[in-house]
Amino acid sequence: MINFTGSHILSVNQLDRDAIAKIFETANTMQPYAQRKKRTRVLDGAILGNMFFEASTRTRVSFGSAFNLLGGFVRETTGMSSSALAKGESLYDTARVLSSYADVIAMRHPESGSVSEFAQGSMVPVINGGDGPNEHPTQALLDLYTIEKELNSKLQTIDNMHIAMVGDLKFGRTVHSLSKLLAQYKNITFSLISPKELAMPDSIVSIIEDAGHKVIISDEIEGNLDADILYLTRIQEERFPSPDEANKYRGQFRLNQQIYTKHCKSNTVIMHPLPRDSRSDANELDTDLNLNPNLAIFRQVENGVIIRMALFALTLGVADQVQQHECDVNWFTQK
Ligand code: CP
Repeated sequence: MINFTGSHILSVNQLDRDAIAKIFETANTMQPYAQRKKRTRVLDGAILGNMFFEASTRTRVSFGSAFNLLGGFVRETTGMSSSALAKGESLYDTARVLSSYADVIAMRHPESGSVSEFAQGSMVPVINGGDGPNEHPTQALLDLYTIEKELNSKLQTIDNMHIAMVGDLKFGRTVHSLSKLLAQYKNITFSLISPKELAMPDSIVSIIEDAGHKVIISDEIEGNLDADILYLTRIQEERFPSPDEANKYRGQFRLNQQIYTKHCKSNTVIMHPLPRDSRSDANELDTDLNLNPNLAIFRQVENGVIIRMALFALTLGVADQVQQHECDVNWFTQK
């Protein structure tokens, strides 16, 4: 198992089943702090460098909130144009500089491999918040944690489940990382549903198949949605040469309550890494599912905070000191 203290978290390839169990066990202990029942100052004085060179709402803000919930401070930069990368500074130099200001760095960048390159120049642990179409390890961990919780509540397990991944499986980095983590479990059926041009990369399909799982590849949604977990993805238009190229695929894999009732099991869990595209012509994941109890998208969001708290506590070596630095919450809270 990885020695978390002082380590970069760049890829799910670093995480075996013991490491995953350690992260989930630590995340469980973060629940009272995330729910504001208690607070902790275990990271009082520590600084997170939250460096997002590509658009983000959830990952950026939840990394910041997670660090604040552990008592630490956050310094942030957003967008390429407002950083010296726009003046030709290398990722190595940027990392060398930023890591002298912070104790840990969370980073997102539009190019595959960029976060690993950055980590080579960093003197502090770097956590990958998404590198182009390559990987999104913290999203995969929160997705896996959500899947486990949702299935356990129905007395099911990840072993032997059926997951349908739908949409842009080529550029959707969350499904790449999640598939690699799931490949470590047993006897899973993967239905990979996408337009042929946006199929799951062969390298990921090989990892799943080599681990002995069943893979069904289709460009049809009908007949393939009776899964335990239905994981939808957005068409990643920012990775296409032009919006028109992306527009060709919009609406092909719409899910609404009517389609759910017709094609899914009565308890199929609906997941999506978000953002969902809610523009009128997107036809992706309709809001008429918002009150469906099997819609887990906002539970995924909540789980993202505790998973990121766990990763900070582990990489900074304080996971067993959190309770020791606990104090009361003084303000009104409904959580
Ligand atoms: N799921 C996710 O990565 O969302 P953001 O792009 O808002 O961070």
